[in-house]
Amino acid sequence: MSEENVVNVKHRMLQLLSDVDEADMETIEQWICNRSYRKDLERLKALKSSQKTLVKIGNSIKKIVPFEAEMPSEIIKPPTVGNQVDCNEINTCHVDEFLYDDNEVEKLIKKGKLKKYYCTNCNHRDVQELIYISHSMSCQALQYIFKVLLPSDLEEKQILDVGSRLGAVLYGAYYLSNAGTIIGVEMNQECCDVQSRIIEQHTMDTNRIKVVHSDIMERSDLVTNSNIIVINILEFFVDNEKHKEMWYFFKKYIKKGSYLVCNRSMTDTFVNLDIFEEFMNWLSVCKPHQIENEILFDIEDYEDLYLYTVN
Ligand SMILES: C[S@@+](CC[C@H](N)C(=O)[O-])C[C@H]1O[C@@H](n2cnc3c(N)ncnc32)[C@H](O)[C@@H]1O
Repeated sequence: MSEENVVNVKHRMLQLLSDVDEADMETIEQWICNRSYRKDLERLKALKSSQKTLVKIGNSIKKIVPFEAEMPSEIIKPPTVGNQVDCNEINTCHVDEFLYDDNEVEKLIKKGKLKKYYCTNCNHRDVQELIYISHSMSCQALQYIFKVLLPSDLEEKQILDVGSRLGAVLYGAYYLSNAGTIIGVEMNQECCDVQSRIIEQHTMDTNRIKVVHSDIMERSDLVTNSNIIVINILEFFVDNEKHKEMWYFFKKYIKKGSYLVCNRSMTDTFVNLDIFEEFMNWLSVCKPHQIENEILFDIEDYEDLYLYTVN
């Protein structure tokens, strides 16, 4: 690193430290002086390297799916309950977070390939920001799930992703954990084909990672045999009645002691579906298992990710 760069790094560190109060300053000084920051730095570098693998996979997917990553055979409708009821064709556009992170989204906006606003009243400066929704988890969310929320040793465990879509959760589990078995169940054939192609193209071990084309409600065996079940918001894909049925099904078949990972509070989901009373004692919120890795994340960005245990 040149002298100029070193000055630049010092400048950035000083800017950060200028916001730290005296009491916290001592902790920071200790962290640097006893060199424990070195271990954190190594873990951060390992995380960045695993991210490169996921980005590479994302780039392969971009080549075989439409820009919005929605398949011609899919019927995707805004929900009629909950906090996304205001989404509609005019004010919402789909940007897949696994394929495009925030930096890439900014670049697409600059190039004009993605719009940020829509006009509410032509010829006026009366514009509204578009709502971006993603049907996949981002690389960062996956890193947080596997490096902070879940236990570090999953060798004997089976992970099930309900509605595995492009396979983001499956690849995250494959490269970010030592989970013994990773299964995605997806009802859309085109999405299953994408996942199978990617698994083959990236020569993943098919004894460890599998995609099953089915409605999850036809595969109670997979639900019961899994130790960790990931459920990303389903309501754009099923109506309220089916959504309710699915939760009754999960309550019946997910075994006690299993983990449930969701990107929305289950209280909100159950209240929106009007089934809270019946489900309130079914789950308990679980603390993150790999607290030592929290330092690698801006945890405020992950407040929507929840880990539960089934009672
Ligand atoms: C929000 S996407 C989740 C994608 C992926 N799990 C992730 O987090 O990146 C939901 C997916 O669930 C699928 N799905 C919805 N209901 C399903 C069901 N009953 N059985 C199987 N798949 C289902 C949809 O086709 C859709 O691809």
